[in-house]
Amino acid sequence: MKIPFYKPSLPPYDTIKKDVEDMYRSGMLAPSVYTNRFQEAVKEYLGVKYAVAFSNASDALMCLVAYIKHMTGKSKVISPGFTFAATWQSADWNGMESLIADVNEHGCIDIKSVERLLQKYPGEIACIIGVHVFGYAADVDELKRLSIQYGVPVIYDAAHGFGALYGWRPLGNNGLAEVFSIGTTKPLAAGEGGVVTTNDPTVAEAMYMAAMHGHKYGDLDVELTSLNGRIQEFNSIVAYHGLSYLDECMGWRWAAVDNYSKHFPMSFGNDKYDVCVSAVTDFSDRRYPSFKDYTIQVKVFNYGGDFELGNWINPKNTRDFICEYLENEGIGTKKYYYPCIPELKVRSINKTCEVDYEGDVPNYKMLADGCISIPFFVGITEEEQKYVISKLQEALSKCI
Ligand SMILES: Cc1ncc(COP(=O)(O)O)c(C=O)c1O
Repeated sequence: MKIPFYKPSLPPYDTIKKDVEDMYRSGMLAPSVYTNRFQEAVKEYLGVKYAVAFSNASDALMCLVAYIKHMTGKSKVISPGFTFAATWQSADWNGMESLIADVNEHGCIDIKSVERLLQKYPGEIACIIGVHVFGYAADVDELKRLSIQYGVPVIYDAAHGFGALYGWRPLGNNGLAEVFSIGTTKPLAAGEGGVVTTNDPTVAEAMYMAAMHGHKYGDLDVELTSLNGRIQEFNSIVAYHGLSYLDECMGWRWAAVDNYSKHFPMSFGNDKYDVCVSAVTDFSDRRYPSFKDYTIQVKVFNYGGDFELGNWINPKNTRDFICEYLENEGIGTKKYYYPCIPELKVRSINKTCEVDYEGDVPNYKMLADGCISIPFFVGITEEEQKYVISKLQEALSKCI
């Protein structure tokens, strides 16, 4: 069997055909009527006041952080160590200093770690960036508390957030603003694209300008640090129709989650090591994640015959063995997110960063060195999932 790591969940071609033809015949490929329609649909779907479409989430994050730097006059940003590079790059591109916080067992920014950094640098933090990792909502209530207590804005990298709920509400209404992606691998996929959502009219106005080089419509003056953040009409058409299928797709995703989740945690041991594999994301009383990926974490416990004296060791070699084994059996995998942010190669050249964690090893490193995203997409069959699980069990029995 050959199972790809993912397949994009696009709306059926027939649903987009007419709009694509009309748009093409009109010659208007740059954002106009279809992008406006998509923005209106996002506002309604997420229940938020403003939605600004962008070329992609990375550009949108950079522009949003540039705006916050300009407004606050501060240049330190708190962000998590376990995320996609784009979260950290939004500060880096603005010449800001990142303070890397630890994460919890679901990969979301750790509240205690954020608070330690806030206390260490009073009055110096421009913003905190929370990430809804794999569509599992960050601790938005706790981050709101810190934001009010320390007077520091929180923004969210909600790249995986379409389809996710917190309580019974969609994401998109938290913090100063949230930034969604509609890139190919996301639950709402349109090739490339992003959306900034906010309930603040000033932020919305700035982001409308930021998506157009910082121009006000019809004026070539530049009012804020920006770039070419324009989405294309084609992508807005695909995303608009995709939105009508999103709830149906979430039903598929959650059913496929059930099929996988009953097999975890999974473990295998011998007289020296115990290897345990568990799901990083799950449902909780408040969170209905989008499951942008189904990611598992490999943990290795070296007890050497004595559980009292044992300790967790770095799982990277075991994780790499399992990935290779699965790939050889025709199963696509990705190591999301390896390496952790402080270990990105670019950082070792000229970019040091301050990190915060408790204990010997940060959780963001244990997650990054132990993570495997396994095949997960709308339309994956039960048979395919069974095959993945059986090969994973085989790999585990051979990895130590
Ligand atoms: C957590 C996270 N943030 C930001 C991005 C960037 O999104 P985009 O590809 O739309 O720029 C990604 C992309 O995968 C991501 O995973």
